[in-house]
Amino acid sequence: MQFGISGLADRVWQNLLGRTKTVKRLKKQISSLKKELSTEKKQSSKNLDAAIKTLKKQGDYLVAQGQYERAEAVLRVIGKLAPQDTRHFLVFGNVLMLLDKFEEAEKVFRKRLARDPSDSQTMTRLADALSGLNKHLEAVAVLEQFMELTGREPRLERRVQTHLNLANKPLPEIVAKRDEATKLLADAAQPSEAQQEIIDELRRSGIAITSCAALFGSDTSLWDAAKQEFDRFVQNNEVVSLAKRISGSRDFAEDPEFSKVFKPSAVSYRDFFGEITIDCPIAKLYSSPEILGIANAYNEMASKIRNMTVWLNPPLHPDNVNGRTGSQLWHRDQEDSRILKCFIYFDDIDEGSGATDFIKNTSVTCSNLTDLVIPYPSTSGYPKEELIRAKLPEEDFISADGKAGTLVFLDTNGFHRGGYARENARHIALCTFLRPVSSLAETSRRVLASEEQLRDFDAVSRFAIT
Ligand SMILES: [Fe+2]
Repeated sequence: MQFGISGLADRVWQNLLGRTKTVKRLKKQISSLKKELSTEKKQSSKNLDAAIKTLKKQGDYLVAQGQYERAEAVLRVIGKLAPQDTRHFLVFGNVLMLLDKFEEAEKVFRKRLARDPSDSQTMTRLADALSGLNKHLEAVAVLEQFMELTGREPRLERRVQTHLNLANKPLPEIVAKRDEATKLLADAAQPSEAQQEIIDELRRSGIAITSCAALFGSDTSLWDAAKQEFDRFVQNNEVVSLAKRISGSRDFAEDPEFSKVFKPSAVSYRDFFGEITIDCPIAKLYSSPEILGIANAYNEMASKIRNMTVWLNPPLHPDNVNGRTGSQLWHRDQEDSRILKCFIYFDDIDEGSGATDFIKNTSVTCSNLTDLVIPYPSTSGYPKEELIRAKLPEEDFISADGKAGTLVFLDTNGFHRGGYARENARHIALCTFLRPVSSLAETSRRVLASEEQLRDFDAVSRFAIT
């Protein structure tokens, strides 16, 4: 058995890992640690440092396991042992936020920043904690102060803009953009009954599923042309052979080519047919008044068509070891506090083909909002499945299954994940309808269109495309 502080740190760890009565036992051990510290003068600060390092490692391990309560307990032990030590505060604050303790997280991050005001990671997490507390103007103050110290950064400038939007104090240039986009919409046609139903459902829960048939009625020309274009994509010889290679891979990390790709499980239209232009029938479908009209009404202003993607997710190898990665894990998109996206299904899609999973009532502007879980905006990335499941009602988790021709409108500010095709291929297009007030509306990818092509469109569609 080990003795001294390091030994005790190990025993704390063993207790936390294993058996019950953790809290009682932990309290005993902390008081024992304190006693040792005060009585054993010979205990050197080197030993204390080693013990703290061990506890910190243990905390990291528990966080990686998603055991946030246990991680919190371990990290609190460090605080008791060495109240002046702030090295673990970044992890500690993150854990507190994951446990919904935003106020304490704010204090922890501020203490850490008092030590090192140029610590960028802690600063962004402090801004996250302030978003969780709805203190958007304080977040702006923190970010501005930081940039004064370390220099202006586009990433942080965008974040400032987002907080100002959320605090309802947009920058003057954003107010001008908002007014222009609202005015444009005032002159556009009112939504039809079918569109209004979708808009109402989106506002309530953040998601609405419909179909081209429901929106376009007997006029199937736009859908037919889009489907034909999608078929041209998936039937292309090179696309077929890449899809086969993806389905044959047991481990993307082992493959010299796939290991370099951000999303190795997807085949993108753009990689084979170039940038999407307004002549592409899929782009025409998206810029139709039937679809664009829903986006504009939902966003309450004329919207920008951005990041249009046409994708094939081939089914993964049954023994593929990569698991869910990136957007296949639960997350909130960060482009704006309202981000309307629309999926078009070009084949039947269900859970086996990686249908998008969505948690209703989690988009921050929906009227049924249940729980913020992880605030918006945030740099936290992908919260653990366990945390999401523990906090949100089971009945709100839905899989957006649908037949070919399905349209899924969703506000991806709410929690979602998708594209994990285990059994069948996923054939989809995706488009974002960004509000022009979003900090990313200017920089996100557009559909290509010449001046001449734009002449065929009305003012609202032209605004969307450019
Ligand atoms: Fe996403």
